[in-house]
Amino acid sequence: MVAAPPDTTDLRELASAAERCRACDLYANATQTVFGDGPADARVLLVGEQPGDVEDQRGEPFVGPAGKLLDKALADAGITRDQAYLTNAVKHFSFAARGKRRIHETPRARHVTACRPWLMAEVASIRPRLIICLGAIATSSVFGSDVRVLRDRGALMERDSNVGRSTFLVTVHPSAILRAGERRAAEYDAFVKDLSIAASAVTER
Ligand code: URA
Repeated sequence: MVAAPPDTTDLRELASAAERCRACDLYANATQTVFGDGPADARVLLVGEQPGDVEDQRGEPFVGPAGKLLDKALADAGITRDQAYLTNAVKHFSFAARGKRRIHETPRARHVTACRPWLMAEVASIRPRLIICLGAIATSSVFGSDVRVLRDRGALMERDSNVGRSTFLVTVHPSAILRAGERRAAEYDAFVKDLSIAASAVTER
């Protein structure tokens, strides 16, 4: 049983230890731990909320509908996948079973707190130039209640945080765009605009 990351910056060792994490109860119903994915020298690290249904089954972050939207938005903003490491604030799928369906449940504060050491270990290993928080759960994991997504989105912030001192940008979660109905195109454009500001901070001139 593992309840905290081992003292290493080796991503593969961290991912392997996280498979056995029992620091909260979410492991019990999830298919597997979904650790972060991307190059060890990524310039930008993106933090989402938690794996969804597809991610839980595949064992990789952001490979379902929200991930597809994120991929397109990153490309539209000029951030390539080889520049980006994708991870989540919580690394097990939190859901409620309704018959055969598994309905996403927002992770509780205790899940976010239990999982934060893994996020800190990923940040310490990768040492990205920029950390992008996608949505409220990622933002609260990194900043507590000091930063608000809708108030503070789209601005580069150099500051201390729960994962150390770095440059950050917060924006909405791609799932919020999928749910935006007739505002979807406008919300997508605003998301790409935020990510373009992030791109300007990580693209070599
Ligand atoms: N939503 C997230 O926050 N993360 C994923 O990996 C997938 C969907």
